[in-house]
Amino acid sequence: MQITYIGHAGLYLDSECGSILCDPWFNSAYLASWFPYPSNKNIDIESISKPNYLYISHLHLDHFDPAFLKKYISKQATVLLPEFGTSHMRDALSDLGFKYFIDTKNGEDMVLDGGYRVMVNSLSSPTDGPLGDSVLAVDDGVAKVLNQNDARPTNLALLNNFGVYDAHFLQFSGAIWFPMVYRYDKNLKDRLARAKRKNQLERACQYVKAIGAKNVFPSAGPPCFLDESLFELNDFSDPSSLNGSETNIFCDARVFIGHLLENGIENSHLIGPNSKIKIGKEYLDIDSPEDLRNAYEKKRQYLVSYQEQVAPQIEAEKKLWPKLRSGEMFQIMKEWFEPLIKSAPLTCRGINGRILLSSSNGEFVLDFLTQEVEPYEGQSCRFRFYFQDGVMEYCLANRVEDWVNMAFLSCRFEAEREGPYNEYVYSFFKSLSEMRMEFVENYYSRDTPVGETIECEGYKIQRYCPHLRADLTEFGYVENGVLTCKLHGWRFDLDSGKCLTSQDRKLFSEPID
Ligand code: FES
Repeated sequence: MQITYIGHAGLYLDSECGSILCDPWFNSAYLASWFPYPSNKNIDIESISKPNYLYISHLHLDHFDPAFLKKYISKQATVLLPEFGTSHMRDALSDLGFKYFIDTKNGEDMVLDGGYRVMVNSLSSPTDGPLGDSVLAVDDGVAKVLNQNDARPTNLALLNNFGVYDAHFLQFSGAIWFPMVYRYDKNLKDRLARAKRKNQLERACQYVKAIGAKNVFPSAGPPCFLDESLFELNDFSDPSSLNGSETNIFCDARVFIGHLLENGIENSHLIGPNSKIKIGKEYLDIDSPEDLRNAYEKKRQYLVSYQEQVAPQIEAEKKLWPKLRSGEMFQIMKEWFEPLIKSAPLTCRGINGRILLSSSNGEFVLDFLTQEVEPYEGQSCRFRFYFQDGVMEYCLANRVEDWVNMAFLSCRFEAEREGPYNEYVYSFFKSLSEMRMEFVENYYSRDTPVGETIECEGYKIQRYCPHLRADLTEFGYVENGVLTCKLHGWRFDLDSGKCLTSQDRKLFSEPID
């Protein structure tokens, strides 16, 4: 099999069984905030434009690039659809002109026309991507490839049942705004970022160990931030010292490869856009562009030059952002959000407070106690978001149903909050339509049984994490009486079972006499 890495999470798999194009991303995403890093302008688009199969892991805009798909990719391609709880992906791809779909079944092998054996592991909780994320396993009869991209699968046995992988592609860096946009004092922010960076590297390392592939390829991030107001979000670690800048969550592939080496894992490879990977059972050949290392070793210089190239594009895009007056914004929010809030008792209970949405054009409160949208008049708000001008206006004018997949991932805001992370806040902003909200409310209404238990440091605890059911025999570790699940970093006090990360979850835990 030959795999062409086309940048970020993008892969083009080609073998005697045919071709599969995965997550091609070429246009900037999230209001001109994210760009592929390193740049993938060197890809020959024509050579990937007529795949037999198209696989989009999820609808985040650095994986699903509608303008690119519409313009360049043949609509004869058959789409491998993950099994999600909503029809959003099928609808979005149908709107672009794709006509042929295969509905995969979560975790089930299938053989495609041409001969590929594939399996899609679909993740469909409200916290998985934009209400759905997925992983693709592919076998051409010679090599097995696991395309994990930035998904966080919880059932590793299911992935390993597919066979021993020759190649494992996965993400290791942050794709989130916390804590980078928070108005914390520098010491606290540095401490939180350092912990997050460590946690995400360890989580990815844990996946690498648990999958045990013959070769590991860091991919799917980080992006680069080329707007002047976001430029310092890029991680400018000193190339000669992998730990030079430990307070940035957007660490790049070199850092992950260094982290793996520290953990005794020596089979990971640095690749870049247009790297060609020929892989077989006992065979690996990687041909990468000669200038690949420049993007890493002269990173600031590289990104400044990249920034100069795209500056006109960013400015042009900003000019298209709509302008709304405060009264118009309020009217739209009131008519749009209030019925959704009223239809979502479990979300209201989970948020149990007020959210401030602020920009210089207006300040508004989403009150989940009274279930109303109000102008801001000094109410106490537990969650506060201060957006750059144009961001809220864009989402309101375009009726963006998933603000995480636009406003929040753009990082074009600052934030404050009282108390711990609250996942209901972001589930709400991902679910700004009746169909989405119904899905989320249904999900939260399901009881999660404690199920199987395990022994852990003198306690009997539930085997699967109360958050998203990661197997704690794989992902749990204990320090000073606190169990941490490495998948998303949630922490639980072993003595009481209390969750120290979120208020509404509890771990079943009792001392063993
Ligand atoms: S599954 Fe998310 S922290 Fe455990």
